[in-house]
Amino acid sequence: MLITVHAFLRLAFPVQHALSMHRQLSSEDRSDGNKEYEGASRDASMGQMTPTVAASAPGKCILFGEHAVVYGEPAVAVALEQRLRVALSPAASWSVDGSALHPEKHPHIVHLRNRFLGEDSPPMAIHIQGDIPRASGLGSSASLSAAIGAAMAHLSNGTVAVSNDALSEAAHSAEAAAQLGRASPMDTSTSVEGGVVVLSDRRESAGEWAYTRRLSTPEGERTWEVHRLDPPPAEVYLVLGNTGVHAPTSKQVAMVAEALAMNPERRREIQAIGTVARRGLAALLRGDYEAVGHAMSENHLLLRGLGVSSDELEELIRAALPSSLGVKLTGAGGGGCMVALTRDPKQTSEAIELAGGRTLVSKLGNEGVRLEQV
Ligand code: MEV
Repeated sequence: MLITVHAFLRLAFPVQHALSMHRQLSSEDRSDGNKEYEGASRDASMGQMTPTVAASAPGKCILFGEHAVVYGEPAVAVALEQRLRVALSPAASWSVDGSALHPEKHPHIVHLRNRFLGEDSPPMAIHIQGDIPRASGLGSSASLSAAIGAAMAHLSNGTVAVSNDALSEAAHSAEAAAQLGRASPMDTSTSVEGGVVVLSDRRESAGEWAYTRRLSTPEGERTWEVHRLDPPPAEVYLVLGNTGVHAPTSKQVAMVAEALAMNPERRREIQAIGTVARRGLAALLRGDYEAVGHAMSENHLLLRGLGVSSDELEELIRAALPSSLGVKLTGAGGGGCMVALTRDPKQTSEAIELAGGRTLVSKLGNEGVRLEQV
């Protein structure tokens, strides 16, 4: 039986159909000239056989603008080499890595299941693996949402549109639901699109505009314009230093919201982050990585002033600084990861590790969400 299923899956998911979502999958794509796939879909809809579906999506690193992006300021993020991979197989009940699927424990997954497949859809066992550390500012929950969304949309048998836009919208609404209504589409768009992504409250001349995201937050309506950026290639690397301290994004974002509510003057700090992000973006477009690094370090000082750094982050940042072009915390802060932009990833990694951090190295800009062969 196992052999038969594997043989079937090879037919149903030939290499050319382990499609990158860059190609903007649509139901048209899927019904065009792939008879085996059509056969698999028909079987699935008849409940006779739902094949295992797998998808993966990258983590992200914010170079400029975290926190301020929640308030519409520009921000730049890159997709990392590190990815999460999910596999969904038919099962007797819904589960995630062997535990029953639970709305409180797995809010993103339940949200996407209800959206793409419906609450009463046939149950699936979900298996997650990958090398993005959890709750560490590298977008593990966004990449989980993107990968699960892609796999579920694929399973929906053509009833759900699977463009990057639709997928990133669904993943963003899952993130927002889990983040008390305050989430920019930064993490989810980067994980879906891959490469380098710029968000702003206006259409920027830099990069290629992709789509608009809207969200009703406790502080009012927000609109973000999402752009893809293609900076000149360079021999520079990101070294991510993990403090090992988990700080939930929702808590960090709520802390900033409270600080601004108590003292609206502090909105200036948010605007200053936006100004630095714009400077960093211009440097990135010129391929001037010295200036990119400088803007990253400046951005960090502003984040520290906002109160979202931590002693552990500061220690790793101090250690990485001498061998880096620029260093900052990345993501929500309070723990999680710092990032160093460097031409010498070995030396920078060693310095961070000597200071007690765990490191990951990535080049800038990697592939976005994609279906994987099973
Ligand atoms: C988290 O990776 C980035 C934040 O700006 C929150 C968000 O954009 O939703 C802190």
